[in-house]
Amino acid sequence: MRFVILGPPGSGKGTQSEFIAEEYNIPIICTGDIFRKLAENDNVIKNIINAGELVPDEKVENIIVEILNKDDRWEKGFILDGFPRTLHQAEFLDKYLKEHHSKLDAVLLIDVEVDMLVKRISSRRICKNCGAVYNLITNPPEKAGICDICGGELYQREDDRVDIVKSRVERYNKTIKEVIDYYKNLSILKVIDGRGSIQEVYSIVMDELEAM
Ligand code: AP5
Ligand code: MG
Repeated sequence: MRFVILGPPGSGKGTQSEFIAEEYNIPIICTGDIFRKLAENDNVIKNIINAGELVPDEKVENIIVEILNKDDRWEKGFILDGFPRTLHQAEFLDKYLKEHHSKLDAVLLIDVEVDMLVKRISSRRICKNCGAVYNLITNPPEKAGICDICGGELYQREDDRVDIVKSRVERYNKTIKEVIDYYKNLSILKVIDGRGSIQEVYSIVMDELEAM
């Protein structure tokens, strides 16, 4: 299965991707994680992320192609978390998949209002070592500051400061409408009410996917 997961910052894309990937035994491609890794040695990307802006389409698209072309483990499916974010990226992805005799099965849009996003993001913590995601309010680690899975140290993303989160949400709203309309027209868009608990949202996701 080939899925895209869309939604504003903090809506739960990463969280739900983990469950979906496990259920369907497919890998996740998260462009945000890829760019955060690149930003460690690339100040241009670092500045873009920390300003809440988008990496230019061409750069993102080249990276996606590089990953998908690298080996054949993507052939049985994947979940794209955070890509596409612009109409250009959506059209690019379709063209790539068509050329490889393939297509998306579904696009999930996690819908959550802004106040809730800011709350979720400001209490998010991530393991430096294994990348596991926690939330101090809704999904806290057993021991403060320590990952339950690997014992790694938990940190807060630099772009999770409230002022940057607001820019990220604004930036998301500027480009996403065209992407949503594009997938609506293809009749593969599934809008998910993302306001419930992590488990409640996941059960809505699975109801939608099983009904396909
Ligand atoms: P990216 O890393 O994708 O950031 P984002 O889109 O802003 O989304 P987040 O990762 O912040 O949130 P999420 O939806 O994954 O939420 P999560 O599951 O963690 O991108 C970062 C940057 O990279 C972009 O700003 C841009 O600069 C660049 N970039 C990336 N892709 C790009 C592209 N395609 N084009 C151009 N530039 C690109 O959940 C958040 C918190 O809430 C966690 O603590 C979690 O535990 C908690 N939580 C989750 N679900 C629930 C729930 N249902 N109830 C309660 N708590 C919940
Ligand atoms: Mg994420």
